[in-house]
Amino acid sequence: MQQVYEQLIQPLLDKGFGSVDGWFSGEEIAALRQVLLERYQKDEFHQAGIGQHYQYQRKKRIRGDQIKWIAANSPIAIEQHFLKQVNDFIDYLNRTCFAGIRNSEFHYAVYEPGTFYKRHSDQFNRDDRRRFSMVLYLHENWNPGDGGELIIYGQENHCIEPLPGRIVFFSSELEHEVLRSESQRMSLTGWLRSN
Ligand code: OGA
Ligand code: MN
Repeated sequence: MQQVYEQLIQPLLDKGFGSVDGWFSGEEIAALRQVLLERYQKDEFHQAGIGQHYQYQRKKRIRGDQIKWIAANSPIAIEQHFLKQVNDFIDYLNRTCFAGIRNSEFHYAVYEPGTFYKRHSDQFNRDDRRRFSMVLYLHENWNPGDGGELIIYGQENHCIEPLPGRIVFFSSELEHEVLRSESQRMSLTGWLRSN
């Protein structure tokens, strides 16, 4: 796994983000997608908000995805497997980079056609505990024209195609944007947090 981890960490140190395609197998992605779809069909998702506490608002003109948080003690085997893999990665990150990550939080996200998430940072005002953002794309197919690309803004701007199974890992303070999706776009999105 060390090679996969380094494919995420080294580019992050160099330019703020890294991405890798082979961390999870096609079977694992399909299993996560199936859990997502079951929960989505059971109406367990809710419209995502922006900001924390009193700033929390629902503004579809800024953010259009629907989300469902994963419980840390989920009884579902593939979710446990996913969280275990993330924890192994966190151990590696803390060991090799003294990153000081203490916990993580993940939610499923579904962008229906026509939805997007305007340019934003994942750190809340006066709260920088979200150190790193991680996204794993779960839809079955993605082709140019399906939209929903992730744009990461920095000294240079980068456009990342949300290919199935791809993981993107970036510093949560970096501004980024999800372009309007033309097809149903699914992901597991989360944050590695310090205290
Ligand atoms: C987010 C986000 C990026 C993506 O949920 O905060 O920016 O590619 N997601 O889904
Ligand atoms: Mn974001």
